[in-house]
Amino acid sequence: MLERYGHGGDLRTAEEAFGMAAQSFVDFSSNMNPLGPPDSVKKALLSYAELIGQYPDPAVRGLRRKLAERHQIDEQSIVVGNGAAELIDLIIRALQPKLTTLAIPCFDEYGDAIRKICGAVYEIKLSAENQFELHLELEHLCGAAATGSLFMLGSPNNPTGQLVDPALIRMLLSKGAYVVVDEAFMDFVPEESQYSLVQEAARNEKLFVIRSMTKFYSIPGIRLGYIVGMPRTLSGLRRLQVPWSVNSLAQLIGESVLDDPDYAERTMMWLQEERPWLIKELQALGFVVNPSVANYLLIRIPREAELSASMLQLEMGKLGILIRDASRFAGLDHTYIRVAVKLRKQNEQLVAAFKQCLLQSRGGR
Ligand SMILES: Cc1ncc(COP(=O)(O)O)c(C=O)c1O
Repeated sequence: MLERYGHGGDLRTAEEAFGMAAQSFVDFSSNMNPLGPPDSVKKALLSYAELIGQYPDPAVRGLRRKLAERHQIDEQSIVVGNGAAELIDLIIRALQPKLTTLAIPCFDEYGDAIRKICGAVYEIKLSAENQFELHLELEHLCGAAATGSLFMLGSPNNPTGQLVDPALIRMLLSKGAYVVVDEAFMDFVPEESQYSLVQEAARNEKLFVIRSMTKFYSIPGIRLGYIVGMPRTLSGLRRLQVPWSVNSLAQLIGESVLDDPDYAERTMMWLQEERPWLIKELQALGFVVNPSVANYLLIRIPREAELSASMLQLEMGKLGILIRDASRFAGLDHTYIRVAVKLRKQNEQLVAAFKQCLLQSRGGR
């Protein structure tokens, strides 16, 4: 079980499970940009030695200024954190929602953060028939107007790859609910300006948007994310944050990647070409692939294969390919896996390994 610590991308666990060196795996279980960190990161690393003897800027001013410019919002509307994961935890601790609605399957950390404050969770079950798109029925809205009620939604949602219609979020806000939108993968969406609620969050005291810098810029080791909201409401969150939670290397790297517009362009070109190619190849093998706007795909294993997600993960791991057993997401069963979209050569390796596993399972019967 590669998700021993709750997430994909755990190469140390893979090393222990399959007896191979961490760097020998092709990792489709976490959703990083396969172009790797922008060149500007290397330059930032070289200049870092001078900063190490000083405390980081506790207010993360340089990076907040650049993020504010990028989103055309006031820098007071941004709090930077030690990855989006820290901000998910912080916003829940700051809001202390009595009731939180989640649309499952979704990122596990939402539920974990709510359980830590002993809050109640109401689950909307997204359905495969609707391609896991979020539609709100009357029954889902009952809690929206209750005092202190929160909706926590991923857009694009992990693991489904679906966006939430901004009109739905506006409707929830109009009913009096608080809404936190996790836009960790929004940078991968070419129509970002149509779907992102960053600017609205900067002027609505009940709306918050969380962004991650780790996926798009391929810097998960550095831990960098931010939350956007009204300055007054964010001050409560800031009070709960550990001082210097964002170290100076993370601040420096965060600033450097935002100076690299060419990287974003190359990323978009890669994804627009590679995602449809991979979907077509996977469908040809009999997999059912959920439509995705993101850099990962939620996939149902063909029934005839008689392979569960955990069995397939094991067989693929033996071939040096790591995939996510998506049955570990609440709301999905043992027929679901999730893979990242990577570069063509790696995607070809993925398809070839799947083919081998499917053939083996047929031969075994
Ligand atoms: C939907 C979603 N939100 C947030 C995070 C956390 O991102 P970070 O690495 O910035 O903490 C993840 C990580 O996998 C994620 O999938």
